Amino acid sequence: MGDTESQVAGGKVLWHFTMSLDGFVAGPNRAMDWMAGISSRPGLVEEYIETTGAVLGGRDGWNAAGDSRPYGGAWHGPIFVLTHHPEDAMPADGVTFLTCGPAEAVRIGLAAAGGKNLEVLSPTIGSQLLELGLIDEIDLHIAPILLGDGIRLYDNPGCAPVRLHRVGEGDPVAVVNVRYRPTAPAKRSAESSPGAAAE
Ligand SMILES: NC(=O)c1ccc[n+]([C@@H]2O[C@H](COP(=O)([O-])OP(=O)(O)OC[C@H]3O[C@@H](n4cnc5c(N)ncnc54)[C@H](OP(=O)(O)O)[C@@H]3O)[C@@H](O)[C@H]2O)c1
Repeated sequence: MGDTESQVAGGKVLWHFTMSLDGFVAGPNRAMDWMAGISSRPGLVEEYIETTGAVLGGRDGWNAAGDSRPYGGAWHGPIFVLTHHPEDAMPADGVTFLTCGPAEAVRIGLAAAGGKNLEVLSPTIGSQLLELGLIDEIDLHIAPILLGDGIRLYDNPGCAPVRLHRVGEGDPVAVVNVRYRPTAPAKRSAESSPGAAAE
């Protein structure tokens, strides 16, 4: 099993995130500086810029984003932000604040996406949509980092397990095997480090 296939536009609802190995999509206080220094396969960002027709986010993420826009401003399209209190939101070009339910927000977002994909960039809204059966794909880029704290992709204590099928070739219920090592050298003597015997 290799890397994922290129993403394609197809009117899909994608729950799309870069996520730490331990399942966080934002650090404590919504910090995002941990994403610095992480690389992705060539052309990956362009894939999503091309195939995304609209974005649906939540009010906290919107507030935290400040002036920044998805894909560093390289993507242009309609953004929908779900909130209970649109009256105190600063108006912004291309941004619509919605007070409807998540299912209606998806309907609006998909219509605006014009056949391309609707990206859900919110853990809380993604969870609600998952429960409603409205997520087509959970599309993740797993970063080689452990955060230990922050905002989880899926934070739903007490819920029943949500079973998934991996998209792509091969057994859809097989585990995905990955191996990492800390970037700091292991604090062991040279004699006991892996490979020492062979040197
Ligand atoms: N790693 C990545 O690739 C990536 C990408 C994008 C964003 N992020 C991060 O993800 C984080 C988003 O965090 P989050 O999940 O805590 O916040 P969020 O989903 O952005 O916002 C949650 C808020 O949205 C509003 N909301 C949610 N569902 C609603 C509904 N059904 N009806 C009306 N309003 C609703 C509520 O705000 P009100 O009640 O106040 O209106 C709720 O408190 C941000 O820190 C952002 O930086 C990470």
